[in-house]
Amino acid sequence: MCSFNLITTMQFTCKIAIFLATILCLSLANAETHHHQFVVQSTPVKRLCKTHNIITVNGQFPGPTLEARDGDTLVVKVINTARYNVTIHWHGIRQMRTPWADGPEYVTQCPIQPGASYTYRFTIENQDGTLWWHAHSKWLRATVYGALIIYPKLGVPYPFPKPNKELPILLGEWWDRDIISVLRQAIFTGAAPNVSDAYTINGQPGDQYRCSSKETTKFYVKSGETLLLRVINAALNQELFLTVANHMLTVVGNDAVYNKPFSTRVIMVGPGQTTNVLLTADQPAGRYYMAARAYHSAQNAAFDNTTTTAILEYTKGATSRPLLPALPRYNDTNTVTAYTSRLRSLAPEKNKVPTHIDEKLFFTVGLGLVNCTPGPRCQGPNNTRFAASMNNVSFVLPRRNSLLQAYYSGNAQGVYTVDFPGVPPVAFDYTGNVSRGLWQPRRGTKLYRLKYGSRVQIVLQDTAIVSTEDHPVHLHGYHFHVVGQGFGNFNPSRDAAGFNLVDPPVRNTINVPVGGWAVIRFVADNPGVWLMHCHIDSHLSWGFAMAFVVENGKGKLQSVEAPPPDLPPC
Ligand code: C2O
Repeated sequence: MCSFNLITTMQFTCKIAIFLATILCLSLANAETHHHQFVVQSTPVKRLCKTHNIITVNGQFPGPTLEARDGDTLVVKVINTARYNVTIHWHGIRQMRTPWADGPEYVTQCPIQPGASYTYRFTIENQDGTLWWHAHSKWLRATVYGALIIYPKLGVPYPFPKPNKELPILLGEWWDRDIISVLRQAIFTGAAPNVSDAYTINGQPGDQYRCSSKETTKFYVKSGETLLLRVINAALNQELFLTVANHMLTVVGNDAVYNKPFSTRVIMVGPGQTTNVLLTADQPAGRYYMAARAYHSAQNAAFDNTTTTAILEYTKGATSRPLLPALPRYNDTNTVTAYTSRLRSLAPEKNKVPTHIDEKLFFTVGLGLVNCTPGPRCQGPNNTRFAASMNNVSFVLPRRNSLLQAYYSGNAQGVYTVDFPGVPPVAFDYTGNVSRGLWQPRRGTKLYRLKYGSRVQIVLQDTAIVSTEDHPVHLHGYHFHVVGQGFGNFNPSRDAAGFNLVDPPVRNTINVPVGGWAVIRFVADNPGVWLMHCHIDSHLSWGFAMAFVVENGKGKLQSVEAPPPDLPPC
């Protein structure tokens, strides 16, 4: 009897254990929901010898790193205790059917006013890699940003050997002056804004700057280890080169899409872009600088020519002088071209390029100048104010309502019009000597309508108006195939023949070559209102933006969800 009892008890315990293990297994395999609270606040931080009050999330600079897996849901309650309106954008998250959580102020929501809060809810669908979050209101993203790291689904390995360590590397740009007053001054005068005082790596300028040695960011590594560096360019206005002394970098991903690995000494990352690189500690034990500085392609324009550094350290506490790497010259476009032309997507089967195109669009992009009568508000070159445009439309944000709310409620009247031109209103020699009569864009809040599922191609053509320049153009709600890039004016017959329709890179932010063009393709499978803009914030403020309204398809799964009840009012 006794032994019988024992066996039954054991069997029973065993069954319970199996049951519990199954539950545990299922819950591990299933997606999780992560809850976070972001308190936007004014925080004193010491940089470059002085204490400054900056806007932060939870008092952290850079802000908190969010980690999730593909398939997870994020619920982030943003409480605004600062004195400015704010919104948060989850850069690169597709936000399928949840444009309400995308973030750009007056585009998908009215801003969260001081004292108010708003909860962003969204699910990560078929994305993994490095993304980031940042304020999308005025220029607050200068200090309000952080990493958003998405791991593959449980049990899915990286398409490269598992690194020993992973490190987010956030490149930033620092102003000694309050960033909102820098913006206000630029808007008032119409002149170019003050350039920054430093670049930063994980919030620290590094020891090439005054009063910054002790705080220099350090990374520790053991000989033979491989690191995965998740590089994010969070700088407000500057594309950046990055390199590590004596170490090769193996590029494995961009904008949360894997690429065919290749190795390089230097990478170039535009604002908004992310690059995942592997670095193996295969050098003599010692200290090595990681360094970043400007890639600045515009002519006759001031820029911050300083270098930010962090230290890669093989032995903790070593004090030997680190080795400083050589960086390309600030205007070394050849290095940029050689680098970007090596990018190829890793999984062409998964990233199928649309070959039939329903919408062939051609957008000129670049700066402009608006004539004005001499005075304090007319401080641009030769009695002008700076402007920027796409297809000659200088984008103006609405104020009374967000574009998405107006669209969803069916009342666009006085908020926007749906007449953004699909091609330039006037054709001209875009990268040649452009006559002065073509330098003044028109202001407007113009959207371009896309049918659900339409296959779209956009030629982004830089212009020589004011100056040619490499622009990092970001599309919200999508990533796209970069099927071609080149210099000069895009020539449909010649250049289309050279398109890569097999394994082009897939990104959410593309740097359009200086005095050149880039061609992108995507399928409009995500309904909503989606901003497209230059991720250099001074250009965005000057009007370098437009928005798509993508109509609903058939049924619930192809339609924008209902707005959340706590969506902020204007
Ligand atoms: Cu990261 Cu509209 O931007």
